[in-house]
Amino acid sequence: MSSKKFTVAVVGATGAVGQEMLKTLAERNFPVGKVTALASSGSVGREVSFGEDEVLKVQDLDKYDFKGTDICLSSAGAKISEAFAPRAAAAGCVVIDNTSHFRMDPDIPLVVPEVNPAAIAQYKKKMIIANPNCSTIQMLVALKPLHDAAKIKRIVVSTYQAVSGAGREAMDELFTQTRAVYVNDQMTKEVFHKQIAFNVIPQIDVFMDDGSTKEEWKMVVETKKILDPKIKVTATAVRVPVFIGHAESVNVEFEGDMSAAKARELLKKAKGVSVVDHKHEDGFVTPAECAGEDSVFVSRIREDSTVDNGLNLWIVSDNLRKGAALNAVQIAEILAKDYL
Ligand SMILES: NC(=O)c1ccc[n+]([C@@H]2O[C@H](COP(=O)([O-])OP(=O)(O)OC[C@H]3O[C@@H](n4cnc5c(N)ncnc54)[C@H](OP(=O)(O)O)[C@@H]3O)[C@@H](O)[C@H]2O)c1
Repeated sequence: MSSKKFTVAVVGATGAVGQEMLKTLAERNFPVGKVTALASSGSVGREVSFGEDEVLKVQDLDKYDFKGTDICLSSAGAKISEAFAPRAAAAGCVVIDNTSHFRMDPDIPLVVPEVNPAAIAQYKKKMIIANPNCSTIQMLVALKPLHDAAKIKRIVVSTYQAVSGAGREAMDELFTQTRAVYVNDQMTKEVFHKQIAFNVIPQIDVFMDDGSTKEEWKMVVETKKILDPKIKVTATAVRVPVFIGHAESVNVEFEGDMSAAKARELLKKAKGVSVVDHKHEDGFVTPAECAGEDSVFVSRIREDSTVDNGLNLWIVSDNLRKGAALNAVQIAEILAKDYL
């Protein structure tokens, strides 16, 4: 990377993803000249940390002039991105957006740096790059090397998704409901319609006409856009009482030859992947162990004997890092190095 420094804005800086974005930018020594924290008018003046020693005072997104800002990392919700991102883009700022709003726009690249980094070049069309859904990102980081080797025909995935995927208030709800059970207090439900403490909920995002949920639909269409439109995907997305770290049970069918041993070898060499796969109690990774880590962890790699060239995998990653902030910062790093 050259010695050029970039002016960066973080939209949603008080949120679960925004805070992780500030942390990740600092940890990875992104070449920041100036960084500005933006959120709603209600948070103006609040302080957020940037790295070990810097404290930023939050500014109002609605009043912020993006002229002179090179890159904006955004995670304040789809409606907010819809409203502000075109304004930022028109001012010459490249927006890397974490919300679902722009992901399926054919003129906006949807990028996982380990999978389709070349798509970043398309940012010029609208000055916006979309970050995929957290569950899609971790699945595709693990499946890309396998697809390159033997072409994936079909994916059946069930997710076990942490509450932090639904933001800060969802984390608070898991905490207060868990406490309520122990102190025999009344249980309040605000973020989730059903109880999340000591329970699992097979609905993430709204229902679609065909009975699937929007989260499940996202995994289908995003996989096609990022990896290969020919791959068939069917998904079941489930919220579980875990604070950080999404897990996925993934069944994959390949066109070409694939074995557990071959997959293990390919994944050991893959960028962004850590293979932890031994047949004993410590030989796999759980969400509690992946929190705070950058890798996508793959465990329980085994053949599915009910089909030819079928595999089962257990894929775990920190949804706030690789599923959101880290993926966005990696995109920003490529932009800064190759395009700006
Ligand atoms: N959590 C994940 O794992 C994950 C992964 C990928 C993508 N995403 C997406 O990222 C977005 C944010 O997620 P999150 O988990 O960080 O949510 P969150 O913890 O609820 O944070 C929301 C952020 O948006 C800001 N915001 C809300 N209304 C605003 C407004 N009118 N103007 C400016 N800022 C506003 C909030 O600021 P105030 O404090 O001022 O309200 C806060 O900083 C969502 O679209 C989500 O789908 C999340």
